[in-house]
Amino acid sequence: MATYLVTGAAGFIGGAVAKRLVHQGHEVVTIDNFSTGFREAVPEGVHCIEGGCQDADSIRQLDKWSFDAVFHIAGQSSGEISFDNPVYDLQTNTQSTLLLLKHAVATGCRKFLYASTMSVYGDQPDKPVGEDAVALPKSFYGVGKIASEHYLRMYHEHYGIDCAALRLFNVYGPGQNMQNLRQGMVSIYLAQAINNRHILVKGSPDRFRDFVYIDDVVDAFLSFLPVSAGYKFYNVATGVKTTVGMLLEEIRKAVPFQTTLEFASGTPGDQFGITGDISAIALATGWQPKTHLDRGLHTMIQWALQHE
Ligand SMILES: NC(=O)c1ccc[n+]([C@@H]2O[C@H](COP(=O)([O-])OP(=O)(O)OC[C@H]3O[C@@H](n4cnc5c(N)ncnc54)[C@H](O)[C@@H]3O)[C@@H](O)[C@H]2O)c1
Repeated sequence: MATYLVTGAAGFIGGAVAKRLVHQGHEVVTIDNFSTGFREAVPEGVHCIEGGCQDADSIRQLDKWSFDAVFHIAGQSSGEISFDNPVYDLQTNTQSTLLLLKHAVATGCRKFLYASTMSVYGDQPDKPVGEDAVALPKSFYGVGKIASEHYLRMYHEHYGIDCAALRLFNVYGPGQNMQNLRQGMVSIYLAQAINNRHILVKGSPDRFRDFVYIDDVVDAFLSFLPVSAGYKFYNVATGVKTTVGMLLEEIRKAVPFQTTLEFASGTPGDQFGITGDISAIALATGWQPKTHLDRGLHTMIQWALQHE
């Protein structure tokens, strides 16, 4: 049995990672400030500390454990929201990473896995983007995430800790926050379809994304546990292009009622379209996504309808 820190386990991705690790018999600790997560969503069996990862006093509460690995997943996850308060975005996404790296090194932890994002890339040509592309973020959120990646690199180079940044593309699936209508493309459209029978789409239906299912994302994080990454960043995607129009059509077909659509102008920092090349992670850990969008969407929609 190992002991892991999974930050943000009251949220969508952190909760799913923590749940899997508990299920495998490991001891799991989380720290969450419940800014977007829900106390009741912290998986059973997880030791939960309430606090902000950007706050040194909160991090000190972790001193009583010795972690085999840190999964730093907590953070605000919206490019749009990062424009409201770029300083908060920097604190929650970057200062938090720095403090947790410092804590990990000081306490002898040898592995640090980080939830980065495809937002670091900014606009790219219409073909799956590889990790060697020049990253030019369009949002404060993307800037903070790429800065965090550099802190991982620095900590690896200076203190030898094994670090991987997982550049997650659009993650979706059961457990996604259906109350925050500014974060998560699938959840935003689905929540509106269910609650209002009307979907307001901010931006063009021709925009496109690469949707990756939550269970595959959990597999991707865990695939690094037996692997020595040194320091590197990896796309976690499927390589499959889906336009916003196609996604809306799938959602509207799958819900058991009629919905209407309305289009408005886009949000600041929104990338027009992006898909990810996943050869690097496949080579490093053998990870491959297993869930096709139609199956993943079906599962998510059933879950959302039951939790209406
Ligand atoms: N969902 C996606 O499609 C996606 C894509 C790329 C990257 N990511 C990254 O994955 C991570 C998790 O995203 P999510 O979709 O699960 O979001 P989420 O909002 O569901 O979960 C985030 C969790 O972190 C907590 N949190 C936020 N800031 C915190 C802080 N400073 N200290 C302690 N706890 C804090 C929240 O309360 C919440 O429980 C984020 O870092 C996000 O940037 C998500």
